[in-house]
Amino acid sequence: MKELNMIQATNLTSPNPLMLICSENQDGTTNLAPICFACYLSFNPPMIGFATGKQSHTGKRVRETGKAIVTVPGESLAQVVMACGGSTGATTNKVAENHMEMVPVEGSRIQIPADFRLAMVATLKQSVETGDHILHICRVDKFLGDESKKGLYAWNGFGKVAPAVEG
Ligand SMILES: Cc1cc2nc3c(=O)[nH]c(=O)nc-3n(C[C@H](O)[C@H](O)[C@H](O)COP(=O)(O)O)c2cc1C
Repeated sequence: MKELNMIQATNLTSPNPLMLICSENQDGTTNLAPICFACYLSFNPPMIGFATGKQSHTGKRVRETGKAIVTVPGESLAQVVMACGGSTGATTNKVAENHMEMVPVEGSRIQIPADFRLAMVATLKQSVETGDHILHICRVDKFLGDESKKGLYAWNGFGKVAPAVEG
């Protein structure tokens, strides 16, 4: 047994859940950011939470618009997800830059990647400062899923994204 830091701890919980958070840019386009600090919070009403660093464009836009779609990306998006984690929607249109195929979601102005396993259409209820992050507590208005798609998870902490194999 040895004492670990948090990075080492995230290695030991791998594969970690990975969400691609879709939010609305000021010009109406969709921004995408991979987020591992995400979890279910309540069954009734259905609620989820995700935490973004204080500088995150995603967090800022979710707080401004009150809306997000939290998705589990499909396996074809592994490289794109890492690319989306390496740039900010404040200065880059990640969807255009990565030539991503997006689909509309009824009742939402935010689009989602065509290759997704799960999409949770969410409304922000509360945001709470948690150390160097801000936790966004959201109610899920609608769950959309496609179980034929393989979802992505984060491996080696948050260093790599790939599907998970059961067992
Ligand atoms: C696998 C992975 C997991 C990540 N998890 C988080 C996270 O939980 N919270 C966070 O703020 N950033 C996380 N990031 C980093 C953001 O995706 C990154 O800062 C991104 O540039 C933010 O984009 P935005 O400024 O358009 O929101 C993660 C990156 C990767 C590759």
